[in-house]
Amino acid sequence: MKDQAARLREMAYQVRQQIENELRQQNRHARVIAISSGKGGVGKSTLALNLALNLSSQGKKVLLLDADMGMANLDIMLGIVPKYNLFHLIQGKKNLDDIIIAGPQGVSIIPGGSGIQEMADLPAEDIKRLLAELGRLDYYYDYMLLDTGAGISQNVTTFLLAADDAIIVTSPEPTALTDAYGVLKSMHRSSYTGGIYLVVNRANDDSEGIFVGEKLKMVAQKYLDLEVVNLGYIINDSAVMEGIRRQQPFVEIYPHSRAARNIAHIARHLLESSGDILLTGTQEIRPNGVRNFFRRIVNSLK
Ligand SMILES: Nc1ncnc2c1ncn2[C@@H]1O[C@H](COP(=O)(O)OP(=O)(O)O)[C@@H](O)[C@H]1O
Ligand SMILES: [Mg+2]
Repeated sequence: MKDQAARLREMAYQVRQQIENELRQQNRHARVIAISSGKGGVGKSTLALNLALNLSSQGKKVLLLDADMGMANLDIMLGIVPKYNLFHLIQGKKNLDDIIIAGPQGVSIIPGGSGIQEMADLPAEDIKRLLAELGRLDYYYDYMLLDTGAGISQNVTTFLLAADDAIIVTSPEPTALTDAYGVLKSMHRSSYTGGIYLVVNRANDDSEGIFVGEKLKMVAQKYLDLEVVNLGYIINDSAVMEGIRRQQPFVEIYPHSRAARNIAHIARHLLESSGDILLTGTQEIRPNGVRNFFRRIVNSLK
């Protein structure tokens, strides 16, 4: 009698666990992070690719979307020639699995391509189908990193505002800093509510990296009332250029380089401050995910 009751309790417990797991799975959302900058050529693609690899090596499932419409170049950085891109999916000519490329160290890549505006112009039924398809990415990935263009053109701003978080990259040059401030200002004007992170790239030494980041953070707080998290800096390192030349991510070919250690620091800081590594007192900040990201894009382009 007692045995049977215990068995029933055990069964009920397992059923509850299973239902809870399924519910959690349904509510799962990838964290969508747009990587952007004010000025071009400051290292967005370099950061996107190498950060993706580091997160992946820590067991996170990462998808990289090349969303720099004018200057898509993740494929060049990896020496791959993509057959299809997001545009083929939007046109309904290919499905999700056809356009996703298996990149290094388990990172998935969706090549860029134009066509985002076309997405908004599709009949409502097609948009619904497309969003459902893209929403499948939420079940599988922990992160979707967007390599976006530079500046505050509508194209870039649309991506920035639709994402959960933004990483703004700048170099220490005054022109790059002024333009980075311009992006922050435009986010402030658009009442952006996501997380804002900062990375200083091509610092000449550690103190410059720290100083420039902290200064921009303080200026954003003082003049824009924006809370910016300074994730860290990347040293100007020949390993980075060598990686570009060899069409391989530098964290892979030079894992002990200073730049690779900088990336590891940035990744750790990102995981901590977004609540993905729970420290005492921190809270998990729930992302809206991939499906909502594309839904917001469609809505803002309409
Ligand atoms: N930390 C660094 N050290 C040395 N060179 C760098 C570094 N970051 C970027 N570069 C150089 O700058 C170029 C532009 O970087 P990239 O990531 O393509 O910029 P963006 O995507 O912002 O246009 C790269 O080709 C590389 O040669
Ligand atoms: Mg780029």
